[in-house]
Amino acid sequence: MSGINREPMLSIKNLEVTFKNGNTSFTAVKNVSFDIMEGESFALVGESGSGKTTIGRTIIRINPASHGEIYFKGKRISGVIDKETDSWVIRNIQMVFQDPMASLNERATIDYVVSEGLYNFNLFAGEEERRSKVFRALRDVGLLEEHAERYPHEFSGGQRQRICIARVLVMEPKFIIADEPISALDVSIRAQVLNLLKDLKKERGLSYLFIAHDLTVVRYFADRIAVIHQGELKELAQTEELFNRPLHYYTRSLLSAVPMPDPDLEKSKQLLVYDPETMHDYSKQGPTWRELFPGHFVLANDREAEEYQKMYSSNT
Ligand SMILES: Nc1ncnc2c1ncn2[C@@H]1O[C@H](COP(=O)(O)OP(=O)(O)OP(=O)(O)O)[C@@H](O)[C@H]1O
Ligand SMILES: [Mg+2]
Repeated sequence: MSGINREPMLSIKNLEVTFKNGNTSFTAVKNVSFDIMEGESFALVGESGSGKTTIGRTIIRINPASHGEIYFKGKRISGVIDKETDSWVIRNIQMVFQDPMASLNERATIDYVVSEGLYNFNLFAGEEERRSKVFRALRDVGLLEEHAERYPHEFSGGQRQRICIARVLVMEPKFIIADEPISALDVSIRAQVLNLLKDLKKERGLSYLFIAHDLTVVRYFADRIAVIHQGELKELAQTEELFNRPLHYYTRSLLSAVPMPDPDLEKSKQLLVYDPETMHDYSKQGPTWRELFPGHFVLANDREAEEYQKMYSSNT
């Protein structure tokens, strides 16, 4: 956790996001609160449909918050904000999207793709400055200056994701939301893109919200992890703490799906299937968000909290 100071860069408070479609409505994000500190890599992990992308899109104001607030550097950025704050948000919070194959304009050169934000915000004095910013961003992600003249279809998936990252970096943001940035990539190049993100963070003091659906990737990348299921946070802790002392049934089921290096252990491993109906009894008392160990939060009722604490009291 070195290099992380106390001030939250991003603060999400009781966020709810409801989608309305005619007479039906669906709440994709329910009462979610967390802070991301300056210089921190914060991971949001959960299965498909759990609301991860929706949270990212709400931070960058594509989806409106139905309830709750979002603060960036202490300033409210959810709800109605002035124009100046709006462009401040766009410049400082950038999102790398899930699918690099779908997120590039095929008709534009890489030079244009990477420059788009610069054009939109008038972030260069002349052509020379714009070109040098584009070249620098391409070099920063391990691409070549000559790639600027080419078109997206001439690049592999991994290279395309680098282009998406270059497009984000050229804006010199403080905070990057990386939405499953490697899940669409070939296994062999995932580590390269992850290392690139890690190095950039160190060089530029960036903060990340890193979205993923499995815990393996995140263990190597994140300072803290929040586990989300059906729009609700179930657990939040420092990365090693979460791996050493998983509490919630859902977190334990995610961990049971992490492959083990020892093939014999892997074969005898029991997969824990999360079944909220049978695993929780909330008929007498509903769950609340509570800190069971320092910095380690879980959604539980009194009985579960006691049970979770007992699980680890014998061997610590
Ligand atoms: N614009 C929308 N209108 C209606 N429902 C939506 C909209 N966007 C998302 N949803 C619903 O909200 C839920 C959460 O979607 P979201 O994309 O945030 O999930 P996710 O955790 O990112 O999943 P994945 O891992 O598959 O990307 C899903 O049930 C989805 O169908
Ligand atoms: Mg998603």
